[in-house]
Amino acid sequence: MRASALADEFGTPLLVYCEETIRARAREYRAAAPDALVVYGTKAFPNVALMRLLGEERLGADVSTLGELRFAHRAGIPGDRIVVHGNNKSDEELAAAVEADAAYVVLDSVEELARARAAGVERMLVRITPGIDVDTHESIRTGHVGSKFGVSPEEAADLASDVDGPHVHVGSQLLAVAAARETVAWLNRYLDATDWMPSVIDLGGGLGVPTQPGETGPTIGEFVGALLGELESDARVILEPGRSLVGRAGVTLYRVGSVKRSGDRAWVAVDGGLSDNARPQLYDARYAAFVATRLGAETTGTYGVAGKHCESGDVLIDAVQLAEPTRGDLLSVPVTGAYTLAMSSNYNAVPRPAALLVGGGDARLIRRRETLDDVLSLES
Ligand code: LLP
Repeated sequence: MRASALADEFGTPLLVYCEETIRARAREYRAAAPDALVVYGTKAFPNVALMRLLGEERLGADVSTLGELRFAHRAGIPGDRIVVHGNNKSDEELAAAVEADAAYVVLDSVEELARARAAGVERMLVRITPGIDVDTHESIRTGHVGSKFGVSPEEAADLASDVDGPHVHVGSQLLAVAAARETVAWLNRYLDATDWMPSVIDLGGGLGVPTQPGETGPTIGEFVGALLGELESDARVILEPGRSLVGRAGVTLYRVGSVKRSGDRAWVAVDGGLSDNARPQLYDARYAAFVATRLGAETTGTYGVAGKHCESGDVLIDAVQLAEPTRGDLLSVPVTGAYTLAMSSNYNAVPRPAALLVGGGDARLIRRRETLDDVLSLES
């Protein structure tokens, strides 16, 4: 399927997902952990069609808000494959978890136990902050002492008899197995020291995806193999991957607008940016790019890729070698399937992009493009 045909038909910016890649990633998780409950970290991209597809691969959903729970419902994910998170769940969210007959509600504070019980929650986990610092951007580290998430190991031990098991998730975009393995080793020692024999252990998500050339990371098999190999308990395991399921499956297509020089820099401006992918600004994420309408052409220079937003910081890529882009070309930015459209905004009153799912020779719209009328419809 030609990128130019998709862009002509559906417009740009356009997020194009590959069905085969998503299914393959889901199957890798299932193969690496056949007895585990694997739940998709919905926050990576809440999308009904994608979640339906993951449901067909027998995955469940990790939801962190009422909205994400509604997406799981709409995608037909059964309650017994739903894990409910949230560091500040509302009463409405707890009630919805009960109504959904969710597999587990994950307590994020000691006081939440009473509220969850009062709401009628029966099966619970408790999120523990083990005090492990992982090598990733500080905004997506979660296991350190002082984190806004979870309870201390001591508090969790006090809750042990009230819950079905512990939950740990030390961070996201992990490109090494060391920290994840260290976390499981910590958990082994902790369960041993507290004489806690849980029936279920939730090891969270976190496996990263390389987004730029030269960057490497563990495969799903290596990552999950390391976790399960380290774990000494025979409790049922839950895994909560988000990014590693959908990150590589998504490519963003932008239309090139202006190309110009400024001082000693060359800029190519595209028709999206900060509003559809804030990760460069938020997490110093670095992406690759190529001119999809000049595949095979030699690169002719180094360009900064500028977004269209009215802000100097709206730079998608600081420097990338491109084959002489000109107005009307398509710029393709791979590995943008996770935490992009999910975190999109209407900054500068820009409507959010559409998303497509490509598979079996077909492309279908799985999220329509916002219109300016959509954006204006909230105004009074
Ligand atoms: N489970 C829990 C409890 C989580 O907090 C998260 C992610 C996941 C699972 C899924 O993690 P993953 O497998 O995707 O690493 N917006 C940031 C990422 C935030 C991650 C939040 N929690 C980014 O764009 O990098």
